[in-house]
Amino acid sequence: MTDTARLRRRLADDITGHGLTEPAWRKAVESVPREEFLPDAVFRQGRDAQGMTVYRPLRRHEVPADEWLAMAYSNETWVTQVDGVHAGDATGPVHGLPTSSSTLPSLVVRMLEAAGIGDGDQVREIGTGTGYSTAVLCHRLGDDLVTSVEVDPVLGARAREALHRLGYAPTLVVGDGLDERRAGIEFDRIVATCSVRSIPYPWLWQLRPGGTITTCLSGWMQASGLVHITVREDGSATGRFTGEETAFMLARPHQPPPRPTFTIHPGVPRPTGLDPARLWSWTGRFLAQLAAPSAELLGADAQVILLDTATGSQAWTEVDGVGWTVHQRGPLPLWDAVERAFERWEKAGSPEQDQFGLTVAGEDQRVWIGDPSGPGWSLPS
Ligand SMILES: C[S@@+](CC[C@H](N)C(=O)[O-])C[C@H]1O[C@@H](n2cnc3c(N)ncnc32)[C@H](O)[C@@H]1O
Repeated sequence: MTDTARLRRRLADDITGHGLTEPAWRKAVESVPREEFLPDAVFRQGRDAQGMTVYRPLRRHEVPADEWLAMAYSNETWVTQVDGVHAGDATGPVHGLPTSSSTLPSLVVRMLEAAGIGDGDQVREIGTGTGYSTAVLCHRLGDDLVTSVEVDPVLGARAREALHRLGYAPTLVVGDGLDERRAGIEFDRIVATCSVRSIPYPWLWQLRPGGTITTCLSGWMQASGLVHITVREDGSATGRFTGEETAFMLARPHQPPPRPTFTIHPGVPRPTGLDPARLWSWTGRFLAQLAAPSAELLGADAQVILLDTATGSQAWTEVDGVGWTVHQRGPLPLWDAVERAFERWEKAGSPEQDQFGLTVAGEDQRVWIGDPSGPGWSLPS
């Protein structure tokens, strides 16, 4: 029989220094059996003949038992659902976006460490998923201090079954964790294992003053930033991005509308001094998303397409003999906004994402550079 205690210790060794630093979390990783939280099928990511990302179902009975265990205890994300299709229900390869997973263990622990969780903290987790991170929290804090919310009832039921089977009894809620208002408990920490385009206001009401939110701020360009904000006495909140290259799938209510088949139009061309390839860097993509939050980013290298499905606005770039040309069409001049954002960022010294912060006050949520009075962009409501 395979010694899973040894595999758990090896996983803790693997992620030490890559997210895991605190002994208390190490103990949790060494104790929680991740294989018990994996469903009987997961997706393996690959490429199809056209080079598109594809997810192929892999069933537990198709691989030798020790290989399955090695998968469970590798520092890897195992996608369990794509566009709402569970790996166990998939009859063949699936194209689409992951909607649930057993997240990279180093990332799970990194989020929990970034949240500054300590003994006695009441924690609310958004995105129970398989239940693995919930179990890690329970092991560290005790069941009474852990609440976890999952929007998908099938996933919520599976996680509940696995948690209870292993003796964990946190408060589990099935519902929209961005909207759900739970009276009676004031939390110290909210940690989201799905990302959001802006901070849901109910999260502020659910926290005591001094409480914190740790989440990835993401959007429709798939840019992301891990932010940690603290709620003040007056109910506003502020904090900084860690700068880590960390991303989670978008929370379901924040996902973009379905993208229709679209045609690239000639639009109005003009030269641009902004190298479109800069939009693919971690901070560059984040800036572009702040500047044009309703647009998606497609293409590659210096040929990018910005597409706003709601208004049909588009901007696309091409390399010409001396530099780049941008073609814009529709009511939103998307490239103008991105270009202006890069100009403001360069004027501020071109800082990386760890120099950015977020303040949520009144009806405004503003990402800023340097300090709250610095240049900034409002998040979509
Ligand atoms: C990356 S997975 C969570 C991984 C999980 N923590 C684990 O360790 O297995 C993100 C989860 O967030 C859930 N989710 C998405 N939107 C949500 C929402 N509005 N409220 C609660 N859960 C949500 C998804 O269904 C998905 O299961």
